[in-house]
Formats: sequence, C-alpha cells, structure tokens
Amino acid sequence: MIKNICCIGAGYVGGPTMAVIANKCPDIKVHVVDLNEQRIADWNADDFSKLPVYEPGLDEVVKEARGRNLFFSTKVDEAIQEADAIFISVNTPTKTYGVGKGMAADLKYIELCARQIASVATTDKIVIEKSTLPVRTAEAIQNILKNTGNGVNFEVLSNPEFLAEGTAVNDLMKPDRVLIGGSETPEGQKAIEALVAVYANWVPKENILTTNVWSSELSKLTANAFLAQRVSSVNALSELCEHTGADINEVSRAIGTDSRIGPKFLKASVGFGGSCFQKDILNLVYISKSYGLTEVADYWEQVIIMNDHQKRRFAANIVKTLYNTVSGKEISLLGWAFKKDTNDTRESAAIYVCDELLNERANIRVYDPKVSASKVYTDLDYLDTRSSEENESLVSVVNDPYESCKGAHAIAIMTEWDEFKTYDWQKIYEQMQKPAFIFDGRNLLDVPKLEAIGFKVYSIGIGK
Ligand code: UDX
Ligand code: UDX
Repeated sequence: MIKNICCIGAGYVGGPTMAVIANKCPDIKVHVVDLNEQRIADWNADDFSKLPVYEPGLDEVVKEARGRNLFFSTKVDEAIQEADAIFISVNTPTKTYGVGKGMAADLKYIELCARQIASVATTDKIVIEKSTLPVRTAEAIQNILKNTGNGVNFEVLSNPEFLAEGTAVNDLMKPDRVLIGGSETPEGQKAIEALVAVYANWVPKENILTTNVWSSELSKLTANAFLAQRVSSVNALSELCEHTGADINEVSRAIGTDSRIGPKFLKASVGFGGSCFQKDILNLVYISKSYGLTEVADYWEQVIIMNDHQKRRFAANIVKTLYNTVSGKEISLLGWAFKKDTNDTRESAAIYVCDELLNERANIRVYDPKVSASKVYTDLDYLDTRSSEENESLVSVVNDPYESCKGAHAIAIMTEWDEFKTYDWQKIYEQMQKPAFIFDGRNLLDVPKLEAIGFKVYSIGIGK
C-alpha cells in the first residue's frame, strides 16, 4: 500500500496533481520537491494568490492540504528515501542540440532523476513517469535503476497526465480516465494495483484504465496529437472560409453536432500553443522517422506546419491591412498566455506573432492579466531574433489594458481571457488612432457591436 509519495518537479503538472492527491487522500503523505528554490518558496507562500502556478481553484486545494499531508521542499534525497512511490514530473523540453535537435525530447532531466533515485534509495520503490515521454523511456529508466541501484527493487509505471492548464483542478478531480501502464510481470501488476488504490479514493474504478507500459506512453503522445490535429484541421478550413465567404464558427457548429465528431476542440484560433502539443507531435514524428516510417512522420508533421502557417498568416494579415506597413506603428497585444486561465506562456502564439510584427518594425504593447513583464521579455529573448536591449526598447508591457490601447493603431486579441469581453470598447475606440483595427485571434468579441462603434474588425475564418 502506498503511504508516502514523493514527486520530483513542482511545475504545472507536478504541483496541481500532487495537491489534488493530497487533498483527496489525507492518509497519504505527499512531498513535492524541486531543484528550484524560488519555486518551492512560492509554493510555500503565506499568500495563496502568489502560488507559482495560476489555476482556478488551486489555492483552495493547496490551502486545505498544505502542512497537513502536503509538503513542498528542496530536500530531494530525503523525500526519495522516505517514499514508497516516486512520481517523476520534471520537464522534457524539445532538444536544442545534437541528434534529434528541434524534434526529440530531451531526457537529460529524467535520466538525472533516475540516477539520483538509484543512488539514494535504500528500500523498494515504485517509480512513476508522469512527464510525457517518448515511447520506451520506461525501459531506459528501468535499466538505469537496475544497474546503478543498491540492490533494492524498482518497478516503473507510466501514469501520464491528461490535465489541461486552466482547468487542471477540475480535470484532476473528475478525470475522463486515469491511465496506468505497468509491466506484465506479477511485480508489475502489484505495483499497478497499488497506484490504482490511490486514485480509487476519488475516481470510479471503471475510469481507471490499466495497460502495458508502451501502450500508456504512446496513448499520451497520440491523445495530444489527435487534439492538436483537430485545431489544425479547423484552422486550415478557416483560411478557406475567408476566401469563400463561409463563416468558420457556423461550419464548426455544423460539424460539431455530428455526434461522431463532437463539438469540442473545433474553435478556430491564431494557432495552438502550450508545452505539450508541439513537443509531443514532434516526438511522434521523430519516433516514426527513426523507424523509417516516412509517410506516418509526414502525416503528423503537417499538423505543426499548419499551425506555424496560421500564426504567420495572422501576423501577415495585420501588416497587409494596415496599408502594408506597421513600421513605427503602435500595436497592442491583448493576452500573452497560450490560453485563458493560466499564467503559462510556453509556445504561445502571441510570442510568434509579436516576433513577426517586430520584424516589420512595429512598436508593441503587451497586456495580460496573469503574465509578468519579465516573462514576456524572457520569451522574446529566448527566440534569439533580437538582443534583449532591442526587445526592451520595442516592446512595453503594461498592467492596464486601456493604457495598452491608448493611441494604438491596432489591437490583436491573442488569448481568450473573459475580461476582454467586458471592456468599455467605446472608450478604447475614442483613444485610438483612426481607422481603429481589431484583429481577433480568438473570435472572442462581439463583432456587430464593435463595428457599430466604428472599429474595423478581422475575425479568423470569416469571409467577407
Ligand atoms: C509537465 C511534464 O512533466 C512534461 O513532460 C509535459 O510535457 C509538460 O508538463 P511541467 O510541469 O509543465 O511539465 O513543467 P515545469 O512547469 O517546467 O516543471 C518542471 C519542474 O521540474 C520545474 O520546476 C523544475 O525546476 C523541476 N526540475 C527539473 C527538477 O526539480 N529537477 C530536474 O532535474 C529538472
Ligand atoms: C493539452 C491537453 O489537452 C491535455 O490533455 C494534456 O495533458 C496537455 O496538453 P493544454 O496544453 O493545457 O492541454 O491546453 P489545451 O486546452 O489542450 O489547449 C492547447 C492549445 O490549443 C491552446 O493554445 C488553445 O488555445 C488551443 N485550442 C484549443 C484552440 O485553438 N482551439 C480549440 O478548439 C481548443
């Protein structure tokens, strides 16, 4: 029976997941550790609105369990030693160097974790991959643990996370399914049962699926690939709609009422972002290529190509509409996060649209209700297109949306934050340069109302 859990990695996945486990299982001690001291300090903050991850409802969950059976610290060795089960929830970014550069997942953090577990553990452990990993990573982890350990037994399970940011707490409390993959040996089955018992505290048994390890790992990658594919499919149609006079919102509704297709994930946008979609698809492409499956690789790669096209096309349309030049013009980007209700900006479309506009010498203002100025600059610096001095001089991050739009030639909606719908658009219009343009990258705003005020509005996928 699992009585003591350690989780390595206090990020967007590890933090909320462990908070919910601790909340639902008061008898299990949950210790979340991270190398990053600041992150841990933020999880331990007295002010629950200052947690490092913003998720609706997360503060309440942490408030109830923290100090009771939920602990955050940097004491990695101690937490490993005490635990019966160790979740590995460190990040697995796309490699930026060497073989597989730009495609394969960089597993160096995972390997470091495995080596650390092996060197520290003095009792048997269940080791659980929570991070999204390419197929057959469990085998590598198992190998490292077996060959470098102190003779104790390790059983490796795959338990991929399906939470979406912005709805993490709800997704964890009421998951569509929990997936647990383990080896087909008696020890593997025993480990699976132990983890099933943890989730069974709040998830109905029939929603807990058990598989072999490889199926579980591959299911996570392909679940994201299928979701991303729907967004790219609808975005591909959005361009066709613009040329033909159809309306993508109407098309989506018509498609979505077919119960075989369903209504979710059919919203046209400036392009998907987030830490998972692009990374996981690139992984799938890389794995397919490495098995010589060129057609399979090309098929999935097209999802990414379409997404890149959508972001570029959005930026190009702004330039074209503003009389083919944005040089020296002020453009206000509303939203920087990759979707609403999160402060995560990884792979956000806003970063790429901003970069394209900066290439055209525009001046950019950014407003996002949850993203800090330093995050915006870090994201731009990371692209390496410009020096950080240039980024700082061309981009200003403001904490008031009205200020951000004052005197601007155009506004671009990058994230679907609810608050954007409630702004005083009449007031914003009066303070802008004329003609005043809005490029709605999320089809969020009420177009007839804006047009009545005097705005010229562009929405994704609506032909004129
Ligand atoms: C997760 C998953 O783990 C990843 O596979 C998935 O594809 C995206 O979501 P996430 O929680 O979002 O990652 O990443 P992040 O917020 O960066 O958190 C990872 C944490 O692990 C960081 O706080 C980092 O400091 C910590 N870490 C990393 C360690 O403690 N040790 C390491 O060796 C590496
Ligand atoms: C995703 C998966 O949904 C989740 O199951 C997995 O565990 C991690 O990856 P996440 O990246 O948090 O979650 O966000 P998601 O809600 O899937 O959105 C991804 C991107 O697609 C966002 O940029 C979103 O704005 C965009 N999107 C989503 C659209 O453009 N249109 C849609 O209809 C839906």
